[in-house]
Amino acid sequence: MVKKFVLQWHLSENCNLKCLHCYQENHKPIQLEFDKLVIIYKQFKELLNKKKMKGHINITGGEPLCNPYLFKLLDLIKEDSDLITFSILTNGTLINEKISKKIKSYNPLYVQVSLEGGKKTNDYIRGKGTYKKVAEGIVNLRKENIFTSISFTATSLNYKEFPKVVRYARKYGVNNVWSDRFIPLGDSDKSLALNYEQTREYLEIMNKERNKLKMVKNNNTTISMYRALQFQMTNDFAYGCTAGDTLLTVMENGDLVPCRRMPITIGNLFDRSMYDLYIKSDVLKDLREKKIPDECINCEHSEVCHGGLKCLTYAMYKDLNHKDYGCNL
Ligand SMILES: C[S@@+](CC[C@H](N)C(=O)[O-])C[C@H]1O[C@@H](n2cnc3c(N)ncnc32)[C@H](O)[C@@H]1O
Ligand code: SF4
Ligand code: SF4
Repeated sequence: MVKKFVLQWHLSENCNLKCLHCYQENHKPIQLEFDKLVIIYKQFKELLNKKKMKGHINITGGEPLCNPYLFKLLDLIKEDSDLITFSILTNGTLINEKISKKIKSYNPLYVQVSLEGGKKTNDYIRGKGTYKKVAEGIVNLRKENIFTSISFTATSLNYKEFPKVVRYARKYGVNNVWSDRFIPLGDSDKSLALNYEQTREYLEIMNKERNKLKMVKNNNTTISMYRALQFQMTNDFAYGCTAGDTLLTVMENGDLVPCRRMPITIGNLFDRSMYDLYIKSDVLKDLREKKIPDECINCEHSEVCHGGLKCLTYAMYKDLNHKDYGCNL
């Protein structure tokens, strides 16, 4: 498979929900005009051209389906479909039949919707009624045969409910369940982050569910376990964070950061181009070097793991020279 350069694009912080764990600091809907979005899009194409790579855009927010320019942007991407693929990361609550058909007409690689546990826990975190609305959204996506993925963000509140999410995924014909750990950013409550005992238990629960699915005949739902530290449980390949290397993120005001979960501003795209920032930023150069934290030097996995989830390390210590907060090796 050809490796693609990924752009995670937060179109706006505008959202119809206000989830407990959300990393958005304020829900002030800064909205760039469409001509400004086109400038950012052209800069991404320039970067792809100079890197001689194909690209993929994860369109997100806030809630991308609240965005007035979403479909105009998809029109642009459709014209470049031989160069750029896309997916939509959404809370899933606004996907009626009409929207689902419209999304299908643009041929997304996948649509990701979020779910945080059983009904009670999910609705506590995401808001009343969201559990049911997400199911309706998924049914509409699957009716159009759109590859659908669930994102489960593991916090100390909900990590034990992963099996409930897998059951839900199977019930509604979801193709994939993806999960990563909560990152305490902004004003969010640090105690929601999993400590290493909880991380271990969460990985064991995930792996158990994955093994259970392997025994089920005609199962169409997979569980991805390729994020940081997950290899400790699966013996699969270790995840290598690509932030700053083949992943960049654009915030709602045009700021470039390595990843939404590592909010170190590299510059603003209306002052300097994406390619220029990508090539010259010392922060991005350091990330590309994949330095191994001192605490990991003697670990047998260090050459593949590189210290685990860098964004979590940055959020906890404001310093990348530490091993993953969830690792007790
Ligand atoms: C910011 S949302 C944007 C798309 C859409 N509004 C949604 O909720 O899916 C993208 C994903 O980030 C996750 N997320 C939000 N805050 C997070 C945090 N502090 N740490 C880790 N993931 C987080 C959400 O649960 C969701 O799966
Ligand atoms: S729906 Fe997404 S963007 Fe909106 S508050 Fe929840 S996690 Fe944040
Ligand atoms: S000690 Fe460091 S390199 Fe080893 S598994 Fe843990 S985080 Fe990864």
